[in-house]
Amino acid sequence: MCGIVGYVGGRPALGIVLDGLRRLEYRGYDSAGVAVIGDGELRTLKKAGKLGNLEKALGETAAGDTEAIRTGATAIGHTRWATHGGPTDRNAHPHLSADGRVAVIHNGIIENFAKLRAEIEACGVEFASDTDTECVAHLLAAAWADLDGEPDPGRRLAAAMRRTASRLEGAFTLLAVSTDAPGAVVGARRNSPLVVGRGAGENYLASDVAAFIEHTRDAVELGQDQVVLITPEAIEITDFRGAEAAGKDFHIDWDASAAEKGGYDYFMLKEIAEQPQAMADTLRGRLGETGEILLDEVRLSDQDLRDVDKVFIVACGTAYHAGLVAKYAIEHWTRVPCEVELASEFRYRDPVLDRSTLVVAISQSGETMDTLMALRHAKEQKARVLAICNTNGSTIPRESDAVLYTHGGPEVAVASTKAFITQLVACYLVGLHLAQVRGIKYADEVAAVVHQLRATPAAVETVLDRMEPVRELARDLAASRTVLFIGRHVGYPVALEGALKLKELAYMHAEGFAAGELKHGPIALIDQGCPVVCIVPSPAGRGVLHDKIVSNIQEVRARGARTIVIAEEGDAAVERYADHLIRVPRTPTLLAPLVTAVPLQVLACEIAAARGHDVDQPRNLAKSVTVE
Ligand code: G6P
Repeated sequence: MCGIVGYVGGRPALGIVLDGLRRLEYRGYDSAGVAVIGDGELRTLKKAGKLGNLEKALGETAAGDTEAIRTGATAIGHTRWATHGGPTDRNAHPHLSADGRVAVIHNGIIENFAKLRAEIEACGVEFASDTDTECVAHLLAAAWADLDGEPDPGRRLAAAMRRTASRLEGAFTLLAVSTDAPGAVVGARRNSPLVVGRGAGENYLASDVAAFIEHTRDAVELGQDQVVLITPEAIEITDFRGAEAAGKDFHIDWDASAAEKGGYDYFMLKEIAEQPQAMADTLRGRLGETGEILLDEVRLSDQDLRDVDKVFIVACGTAYHAGLVAKYAIEHWTRVPCEVELASEFRYRDPVLDRSTLVVAISQSGETMDTLMALRHAKEQKARVLAICNTNGSTIPRESDAVLYTHGGPEVAVASTKAFITQLVACYLVGLHLAQVRGIKYADEVAAVVHQLRATPAAVETVLDRMEPVRELARDLAASRTVLFIGRHVGYPVALEGALKLKELAYMHAEGFAAGELKHGPIALIDQGCPVVCIVPSPAGRGVLHDKIVSNIQEVRARGARTIVIAEEGDAAVERYADHLIRVPRTPTLLAPLVTAVPLQVLACEIAAARGHDVDQPRNLAKSVTVE
């Protein structure tokens, strides 16, 4: 939700910031803008629409201006997902102080902005935008004027930022530059991501390490309510009161090529293809010498986990669907009741939580505000929190009692694919860990399931090798009005995920149903030719489950549906009811979503492409949603 980049060093900053923005565009793409300090002047340019519009405008700017913008060695850049004020040129970031000497970019929402704006307007300042962010530019300029006792311009700007940030309520990452402090960029964060990239004679600030990975893999994690000043030579971190604070250094273990398309038409296709590797990476090193599952960070004792009498899973979007699958595995393996909640609903319904409740927060980004707020609510009620997350050092794992990282690598496409699959893998590991610690499964039983899990990357590889007919089918389905998805047991969340993928990418009406529920209403939606995707469980599992869904397929077919059946190799019973049959390798019942979800990802991606949509950046969405 809004991407932010800052650079200060000895090189022309514009190209570096634009490259960074390109890598962060998944965070929002309503508008983009830059502010560069060059020749002692501050220049800004901002444009509604995707980054390409800004780049085009930069090419067309008057020559003098262009030169100053192109050579300046201090810059900030922003790509926006609109909250306050529509996605127009005027509301695009950066925003300037009234004297034009300070430029600010922002991610988040300043909740007391109306009060601040009224106060600033009462001093005679005219606002140039409808945003909450502009308040910050005016407040910073006023604080700068007040702090004339500080001789060092960078530190003076940092002090002005501290004073300003202390007045703000809500969530924010802010970056600011000033004509009066030409060799400095200042940042502040509360409840919103900001990392520092440590270079040689240059430093970076960004919402996500992807923005500077091309230049450095050494990064510094900032804590809550901190202000950072970067100059070419130094990184100075303080809290909002000015007390010196230490950031946490970390090394990024993937490189720039992992964040590039690598020959694929879309990031989504690349990320779908990376799933076997991502699954294997998430499984690697998880099994200890005595067969125990190893988490990454554990601030919980085994006794705490033995005391757990209820599990809640909280998550949003695709991660919520991973949680729905996890429920089946956790309850089956641990016999502990498990509920799955949309994070945005969790705290408002006052769930019953205490010390013996384990809350599992699943989030690819680790920054989703709804999930973070659910986690905080759980902690206030003394529940234990375990995070499943893909982003090292992000807020959700930092605030959790234990963490299991999915080693999926960077996911750039807005629609989640490899993050989902690796979240499933991590959920299974959490279920096994709980079962083992609680003495319900022996080490060798855990190892046997891990062994089955280790076979799933190869199974996904096999699915991916057979996707040509799915691509053809996608082109055929591109003109459909509605597509329905049905499944039972763990196939039900897969149906929900298949429908979500199609909605978010192809902008089509798509719905997922529990197959048994169809007859209680949704079956009325089916008319001649309506595509229904049926996720069939293994006949080798609980036979009754398989037979029931075969009956459901017949029911929809009898009403004119065109059936697209995803079934295991060797399952002959479905053949006569399938208009299209997609075969997946045999996989144990509980683990089946790892393979059955994959054709649905490909289907949605190809239908969206056939309809001419931007697959990686669907309209109205953002990858990391840092507002509630
Ligand atoms: C957004 C994205 C979804 C994602 C959800 C949760 O809505 O568009 O693809 O599933 O956030 O994100 P998280 O980072 O918490 O997994």
